[in-house]
Amino acid sequence: NQLEMELEAIEKGGYEHFMMKEIYEQPKSIADCLRGRLDAKSGRLVLGGLRDYMNKFQNAERIIITACGTSWHAGLVAEYLFEEFARVPVEVEYASEFRYRNPVIGEKDFVIAISQSGETADTLAAIELAKSKGATIFGVCNVVGSSIPRATHAGSYTHAGPEIGVASTKAFTAQISVLAMMALKLGYQRGTLPESRYIQLLHELEAIPGKVERALKSNEAIKYIAEEYKDVRNALYLGRGYNFPVALEGALKLKEISYIHAEGYPAAEMKHGPIALIDEEMPVFFIATKDSSYEKVVSNIQEVKARKGKVIAVVTEGDTQVKAIADHVIEIPETHEAFAPLVAVVPLQLLSYHIAVMRGCNVDQPRNLAKSVTVE
Ligand code: G6P
Repeated sequence: NQLEMELEAIEKGGYEHFMMKEIYEQPKSIADCLRGRLDAKSGRLVLGGLRDYMNKFQNAERIIITACGTSWHAGLVAEYLFEEFARVPVEVEYASEFRYRNPVIGEKDFVIAISQSGETADTLAAIELAKSKGATIFGVCNVVGSSIPRATHAGSYTHAGPEIGVASTKAFTAQISVLAMMALKLGYQRGTLPESRYIQLLHELEAIPGKVERALKSNEAIKYIAEEYKDVRNALYLGRGYNFPVALEGALKLKEISYIHAEGYPAAEMKHGPIALIDEEMPVFFIATKDSSYEKVVSNIQEVKARKGKVIAVVTEGDTQVKAIADHVIEIPETHEAFAPLVAVVPLQLLSYHIAVMRGCNVDQPRNLAKSVTVE
């Protein structure tokens, strides 16, 4: 009815869809997530939920991360963060596999369960299993008071605000923000992250909301690219290191809302299969920011171009090398490579949004998908 429609328009805050509103909220949602927890100037980093479990966290022999969907992708980013900064072995598990395969797990394990809704049945079951084996369970959830926060020993909320669009956007960047704070804290406490580097990273993380804001400025350019590729039937997403999970997430976004078949791969794995798919019809989305694997990614791009594939690359502002060979580039501000996923995912969210809208898809409620999956 008329009133409901008006109310919904108000909730969308002037945007045509919740997804777009939520993509644009990210500078604020990430800032909200960091607020009161991180203060780079004073070197302060406090996660209230960790306080009582810091001992367990610090002495854990292993971190196991369990989640589903986009939250699982955030877990993959966290694996890189924890291993780099805190030197603790990490395993990232699909909750649905973990719960059924009699995993080796015990009291020395620190389990992190990531969930936007806090209601995902598989994740909840994985938590119960790990709990029964004596592990410590920490939740990273968005919905306050949901089932997962109640089932865990402790946790930190992502504070991203309600996410209505079925395809997760701002929850993902908030999850990574919390996990990044956890990794920095752990690295500092364990002495694997020297103070000066720790402080420098706190400053980098604090600067992320402003960089996301700048990344959003590419929206018009992205729309133009979307127009060009909206009718493709397949797409590949490639990235390395911290940007490998971003490739997976970019592909998932496109699949979920535009129903285009898309696959994400670590760029170096391309030669073990996906390269066979490349011809002039195949768009390949690269995340090719200036980081330790940049030169390698550039040669992966050359391999795609040599086979006449179309290359669309997310690059660091001022890039010249990729620009010279790619069909299209989207620039994002420079950041420490560990935090690049927080910025690099934004253009990919926008791209899938525009392609889905141009294809006439129901962006906020894609077919066959649910916001939270409470059945196994
Ligand atoms: C569903 C949603 C996804 C989400 C996944 C995990 O599949 O459509 O967007 O990533 O569940 O949900 P959770 O609430 O546990 O993060």
